[in-house]
Amino acid sequence: MFVSNCLNVNDKGHLTIGGMDTVELAQTYATPLYVFDEDEIRRACQSYKASIEKYYGGHGIAAYASKAFCCKEICRVAQDEQMGLDVVSLGELYTAIQAGFDPSKIYFHGNNKTPQELLAALEHNVGRIVVDNLTELEILNQLAISQNKHVGIFFRIKPGIDAHTHNFIRTGQIDSKFGLALETGEAMEAIQKTLEYSNIELKGLHCHIGSQIFDIEPFVLAAQVMLKLMADVKKQTGLELQELSLGGGFGIKYLEGHNPPAYDTYMEKVSQAVKQTCKELGLQMPFIILEPGRSVVGPAGITLYTVGCVKEIPNIRTYVSVDGGMTDNPRYIMYGSEYEAMIANKADQPRDHKVTIAGKCCESGDLIGENMPIQEPKAGDTLAVLATGAYNYSMASNYNRIGRPAVVFVKGGKARVVVKRESLEDLCRNDL
Ligand code: LLP
Repeated sequence: MFVSNCLNVNDKGHLTIGGMDTVELAQTYATPLYVFDEDEIRRACQSYKASIEKYYGGHGIAAYASKAFCCKEICRVAQDEQMGLDVVSLGELYTAIQAGFDPSKIYFHGNNKTPQELLAALEHNVGRIVVDNLTELEILNQLAISQNKHVGIFFRIKPGIDAHTHNFIRTGQIDSKFGLALETGEAMEAIQKTLEYSNIELKGLHCHIGSQIFDIEPFVLAAQVMLKLMADVKKQTGLELQELSLGGGFGIKYLEGHNPPAYDTYMEKVSQAVKQTCKELGLQMPFIILEPGRSVVGPAGITLYTVGCVKEIPNIRTYVSVDGGMTDNPRYIMYGSEYEAMIANKADQPRDHKVTIAGKCCESGDLIGENMPIQEPKAGDTLAVLATGAYNYSMASNYNRIGRPAVVFVKGGKARVVVKRESLEDLCRNDL
């Protein structure tokens, strides 16, 4: 019944997260509410770190992809767990800096970074800028000269790997807005061009093949393709690149039927492939960067709602309306992503009702899901949607002028608010 290890049922029959009663959390902090088990997040960080130690001699780092869930506190937790950080906008960079994150462990991504973003990345001396295209390269070099800085970069490469996942979240194939193509020679051209630029140092290469991937094979293939490119670069330019970022994309369990491999297994298989391929190609083993986002925070988070009306349409469906919806979780409307849900105050009862969970927006597509098995719903119940830690808060909106929910972390039997609920004043703060 539980897609995540941090969930359980207590003797009142209530759903718990990190040992804390979700019904009490909903009462204390109001709904809708995002709740994360901090220990579950830390365990995920630790398991990435441990797998790099175990299978790759510690010659690498896991950089948390903050787009999955970004606020100051998660940056602090990631830093405390010795993670690096992947940021993709000025806002994410700013949040990380505000949280005191070590800039030298920040990887700055983005397919169309603005000059302002590049400038900020230079000013803060971020560890690596992951350059997407030649236009960006040129602007970056000019900015670096004007700022009298030298900057270490990666290139984002499309390795031509088609990972089997939703169309909108796959990125490694040639028809993608991200990165430089291998097949057309574009990637090699950019690499050679870098050598002419005075203030840029090419340190390595990056690829990211997609998200919510369960197969290990595409990751292995991508690593092999990237190493082959590194060998070609060595042959053609004499430059032996020392760093390889393999992106994120590791799948998580959203539904009971999902069975993602342990994070450990990714690193085990990818390390084997990297070692073997380096041997064959006569390369030194590069420093590896992994960029997990979803798998760090996804399973650790849930969303709590209060049930409003329950509308039975005979022979058609039952709508269970909640006090949130697409504004705090747009993933069903965007990708048809499915979740497990339950009535938190009846967690010990059978989930024998199939319902459509609807949000409160003026939009018929505003659903959290359809055909979802839950316990018998009644107005006033607390409804929990599970594994919402990734790409929910970070993709939330203010549509219909609905404020974003608060975010609470639980740890050691204590709860604390890490992001306040947006107030009515917040909603008007930029209006003149
Ligand atoms: N690194 C790069 C360069 C990325 O573009 C991404 C995700 C990641 C790392 C982290 O991937 P993860 O481990 O979280 O799968 N909004 C979509 C997901 C978009 C992912 C975009 N890039 C969703 O809700 O499923």
